[in-house]
Amino acid sequence: MTDRLEGRDKVTGRARYAFEYPVEDVAYASAVQADVGRGEIRSVDTEAALRLPGVIAVLSCENAPRLADTSDGELALFQSRTVSYRGQFVAAVVGETLETAREAARLVRVEYAAEEPDVTLRTDHPGLYKPEKVNPAFPADTEQGEPEDAFGHSAVRVDVTYTTPAEHNNPMEPHATLAQWNGDGSLTLYDSTQGASSVSATIAGVFGLDPSEVRVVAHHVGGGFGSKGTPRPSVVLAAMAARAVGRPVKFAVPRQQMFATTGYRTPTIQRMRLGADHDGRLTAVLHDVFEQTSTVREFAEQTATPTRVMYRGANRRTTHRVVRLDVPTPSWMRAPGETPGMYALESAMDELAIAAGIDPVELRVRNDTDREPESGLPFSSRNLVACLREGADRFGWEGRDPAPGVRREGRKLIGTGVAASTYPAYMRPNKATARAEPDGTFTVRIAAADIGTGARTALAMIAAETLKADLDHVRIEIGDSSLPRATVAGGSAGTASWGTAVYRACESLRGSLNGGRGGSSFHTGNGEVPPEGLEATADTSAELKARDEYARHAFGAQFAEVEVDADTGETRVRRMLGVFAAGRIINPKTARSQLIGGMTMGIGMALMEESVMDTGFGDYLNRDLAQYHVPACADVRDIDAVWVEESDPHLNPMGAKGIGEIGIVGAAAAVGNAVHHATGIRVRDLPITPPKLL
Ligand code: MOS
Repeated sequence: MTDRLEGRDKVTGRARYAFEYPVEDVAYASAVQADVGRGEIRSVDTEAALRLPGVIAVLSCENAPRLADTSDGELALFQSRTVSYRGQFVAAVVGETLETAREAARLVRVEYAAEEPDVTLRTDHPGLYKPEKVNPAFPADTEQGEPEDAFGHSAVRVDVTYTTPAEHNNPMEPHATLAQWNGDGSLTLYDSTQGASSVSATIAGVFGLDPSEVRVVAHHVGGGFGSKGTPRPSVVLAAMAARAVGRPVKFAVPRQQMFATTGYRTPTIQRMRLGADHDGRLTAVLHDVFEQTSTVREFAEQTATPTRVMYRGANRRTTHRVVRLDVPTPSWMRAPGETPGMYALESAMDELAIAAGIDPVELRVRNDTDREPESGLPFSSRNLVACLREGADRFGWEGRDPAPGVRREGRKLIGTGVAASTYPAYMRPNKATARAEPDGTFTVRIAAADIGTGARTALAMIAAETLKADLDHVRIEIGDSSLPRATVAGGSAGTASWGTAVYRACESLRGSLNGGRGGSSFHTGNGEVPPEGLEATADTSAELKARDEYARHAFGAQFAEVEVDADTGETRVRRMLGVFAAGRIINPKTARSQLIGGMTMGIGMALMEESVMDTGFGDYLNRDLAQYHVPACADVRDIDAVWVEESDPHLNPMGAKGIGEIGIVGAAAAVGNAVHHATGIRVRDLPITPPKLL
């Protein structure tokens, strides 16, 4: 149990976030959003805005500098007159104060030639197509055996369609950038990002610079949930504005503008067909997904990929179809793909359990597999069954009456549900340095990001353990692209990937300090460290390329108990337990927070979160936390996450899998299955709001 190293700085306000860095002569930007859903900009009238005292400049397609790389349409800010979705940035005002900039932004008059936007995802949309790949590089479709035929001949069948709505990432800290051009033509960005190195590389490309000329600082980040995994137009806006006015510029995306400009989870329509024999053994598994992207850029989410991983069954098919709508480009939101995909699969498994008359825990155990069903690869470790058993035991599942809608306490209908979780254990190549200082302390450097996960602390713990040093003798520097290059805090791959580089650097430093003797520990003033210090570096690319082929995934089981008010349809999650198998847990304290944080987001997905598209205006209607509901403390009662021991030698030197995302995977299905158990009503369209239960 190790507290966050930066915890005191955060709670005392000393930790600096991007917008808070003090710089001389700073100006503020405010953005103007398109108020048509599709069309062309006819003219931009900036006269009134420019007349306002304190306004320094207005940028739009009529005067913006040309960018060097416009291949990512979302980042090609003000480069064309085309409006691709409502809410797209079409102009920006730079002012002496934030208030001036915001007022002036309202005075900018943009005239459009508007067209009717097409914003509705539907399974008969003529524009649906099969993408070349789904993210990050999976085949769009897979097929084995005779799925249709086998399904038709199955003794027990479930053929159901689920929908999940668009959902918006809402980190506490909005996307924010402080951009500063330096005398030598280089650029410094204080940016709220999940990856300093990747922002540096991307923004360098956009402005025609070398990545070494773009320094990105992100010491502290107030959440991201995937929305800060890649730079947004807001970063380009800040940098462009700073260059235009020759002063540092700050731009924070207001909450209201985040809903159009910083990413969201695609809505999905998913047809699930499961066929089983009388004992519940799956013979046919078919998962067909429909989802959206924008006209700006393709984002094809990998929704059905967990179905390729989870259960046995000789006859199987997964498909993804995508349609380009006049909407903002969807992006990553916590466990993109796995989250909606496992909602559908794990809800369908519950329906199959009922159809087959088999306990839903037992049904999953019966369909466990020791090879990844579609690839045939052995799992590096797979402890789904252990999670299900341990969870059933702790939750008190034994003796559960499967009959729906029969437990009542006054007005409340009570039910319990279970669902499985999975998330890939990704690893990405990274670099790190470890340095022994003459005073007996150590400095470890890597451009990793701590977005609130506890990554900084976990990396310091890995370093201390590898160096056999005390934690308070280890200094860790992260969150700056001038440090050794690191991959993004995403795909639950951070601690495993960065940690391996840190481990290797520390291991190598220890080797040199011990003169190759290894083994023994060393202490302050042992005389082995030269006055200038001693440094070791590591690069894990070769190590990762040389790994054996295994299917590497974390697994879990989630149990929920709900009460549904029979009169109002209001659902409360009374109890929730997640049991996970994710390799070695580095820091139990922050790991538990990650897991229950994910589960909490799953409660939101099940019961509250929904971005509502106004098909007339072509825009999401909710644009703040009063309209976009996420769980508050009162919505989260008895919640706990635990893990089973799992030793996996095929992962990395720590033996750790990722834990940032698996907590949300399956959580919504566990709640939905509990709601069905409570009420007998199967809601297949998230979120499960009161009207759907009345
Ligand atoms: Mo996560 S949605 O991969 O940042």
